[in-house]
Amino acid sequence: MVMTSLMMTEKSSLVMPQDAQAASASPSSRPLVLGITGASGLIYAVRAIKHLLTAGYPIDLVASKAVYMVWQAEEQVRLPGDLDQQALFWREQAGVPTAGILRCHTWSNVGASIASGSFKTLGMVVMPCSMSTVGKLAAGLSSDLLERAADVQLKEGKPLVLVPRETPLSLIHLRNLTTLAEAGAKIVPAIPAWYHQPQTIDDLVDFVVARALDQLDIDCVQLNRWKGHGQETKVNG
Ligand SMILES: Cc1cc2nc3c(=O)[nH]c(=O)nc-3n(C[C@H](O)[C@H](O)[C@H](O)COP(=O)(O)O)c2cc1C
Repeated sequence: MVMTSLMMTEKSSLVMPQDAQAASASPSSRPLVLGITGASGLIYAVRAIKHLLTAGYPIDLVASKAVYMVWQAEEQVRLPGDLDQQALFWREQAGVPTAGILRCHTWSNVGASIASGSFKTLGMVVMPCSMSTVGKLAAGLSSDLLERAADVQLKEGKPLVLVPRETPLSLIHLRNLTTLAEAGAKIVPAIPAWYHQPQTIDDLVDFVVARALDQLDIDCVQLNRWKGHGQETKVNG
């Protein structure tokens, strides 16, 4: 039974209501690590969870300590500290009650699976990414699980995608982002485009989510991608 092969080996949640059919349809056995920091725009993380779980990508999620306060400020709801409840909470927010595999980790648990380079992942996306986390990653700090997991991606040469959200950017922010880009991270600012004819806030958010996931070659967000403009030469009719 699928359940037995997914026993918990650490203090993390594993809410796994998916059936065997969904598991076999999974596009990857390796999970994507999703880091969520205390920058504004938690909606970006929620939409990413929705699209990834719906498409069958397993997620290992770690929210920084600051997320608890920011969520309260932005949404007037409390992010549960209990990991099983937290997984259900993210699912509820994302409107994906049953699909896929979502494991939540505690921000302080630097002994979690995702803290090790030997734990195979597709890579990591930090969305939204605060300037505090950008600064700490640029300095090579691993003072919590999120920072450690991101540091691991860099040292292992795995994809690390940062979706920074701040404006304006100070010279320190810009230098830190440059350092991280030089170290191999992809910087995908939370800046939507308008050429895809967005009609709703979700359309704007999804553009950023899609471009972030593009960096990992994950194509699970319905997006009006640019198909060219004007006349094109047709060969063979
Ligand atoms: C409501 C609220 C919104 C915030 N928005 C941002 C933001 O957009 N960008 C940012 O860099 N920091 C923002 N902050 C500040 C971070 O939450 C703060 O620097 C925190 O220490 C980040 O910690 P973390 O990177 O470990 O999550 C915000 C704080 C609050 C309370």
